[in-house]
Amino acid sequence: MDDRTNTIAGWVLAACGAALGLSIVGGMIFHSGEVEKSGYPIEAAEEEGGGGAAEVPIATLLASADAAKGADVFKKCAACHTINQGGAAGIGPNLYATMGKPVAGHAGFAYSDALKKVGGNWDFEKMNAWLTSPRKFAPGTKMTFAGLSNPQDRANIIVYLNQQGSNLPLPAAPAPGAEPATDGGNTVQGGGGGGAAPDAANAVDAVEKDVRGQTGDIANTATPASGAPSVDPAAQKQTGR
Ligand code: HEC
Repeated sequence: MDDRTNTIAGWVLAACGAALGLSIVGGMIFHSGEVEKSGYPIEAAEEEGGGGAAEVPIATLLASADAAKGADVFKKCAACHTINQGGAAGIGPNLYATMGKPVAGHAGFAYSDALKKVGGNWDFEKMNAWLTSPRKFAPGTKMTFAGLSNPQDRANIIVYLNQQGSNLPLPAAPAPGAEPATDGGNTVQGGGGGGAAPDAANAVDAVEKDVRGQTGDIANTATPASGAPSVDPAAQKQTGR
C-alpha cells in the first residue's frame, strides 16, 4: 500500500511539474501574442493625431495679432533683412512696404527665378503661406529660412510687416463675415471635431449596447422579484395592522 501511495504521489508530482512547464511555455506564447497585438492601437492613435490637425484661418489670427510681438519675431529675419524705409538690402531684400507690393518687386534685388515666377502682390494669405514654408511656397527660393511653424507668430509678424509702410486693411475675421467666410469657419470646426465625433459616436454606441445588456439583466431579475412586493404588503398588513 505504501509503495502504491508513493507511486501515486510521484505521478501527481510529475503531473504538477508538467502543468507548470506547460503554463510557462503557454505564458511565453501568450506574451508574444500580446506584443504583436499592442502595435495596432499605437498605429490607430497616430492616424487620429494626423487627421485632427486643422489650420485656423489667418484672418482669425490676424484679428488678435500683436505687432509688438511681431517686431520681436522679426529678430529672426534681421540677419538677412532690413525693414526701415530705404534700408539696404542684405542677403534678402529690404522689406519696407512689402505688403501689397508685387512679389519679388524691390528694384535692384537679384531675386531667384522661383520667387519671380510666383506673381501677384503680397497679400495676407500669400505672406502666411510664404512664412509657413518659403521652400514649399516657392520651391528653389534663395530664402534659406525654414519658416515659422507657429501660426500666431506668423500673424504677429505679418501685422508688424504691414505696419511698416503698407497699412493694408486687415481681412475680416471669418466668424462675423459673409457666407463663404462662415463656411470656412465651419469647415475648420468640422475638421477639428471630425477627429472627436467618430469616437463620441462609438462611445455612445458602446454605452447604448451596455445599457441594453444591463436592462436585459434587470428585466430578468425583476420578473421574479415582482412577486416579492405582493408578499411584503401582505406581511405589513399582518404585522402592522
Ligand atoms: C537666411 C536669410 C534670410 C532670413 C533669415 C529670412 N529671409 Fe526673407 N528673404 C531672404 C532672401 C535671400 C530672399 C529672396 C528670396 C528669393 O529671391 O527667392 C527673401 C525674401 C523675402 C521676402 C520677399 C520679398 C519680396 O520683395 O518679394 C519676404 C516677404 C521675406 N523674405 C520675409 C522674411 C521674414 C518675415 C523673415 C523672418 C521670419 C525672413 N524673410 C527671414 C533671406 C532671408
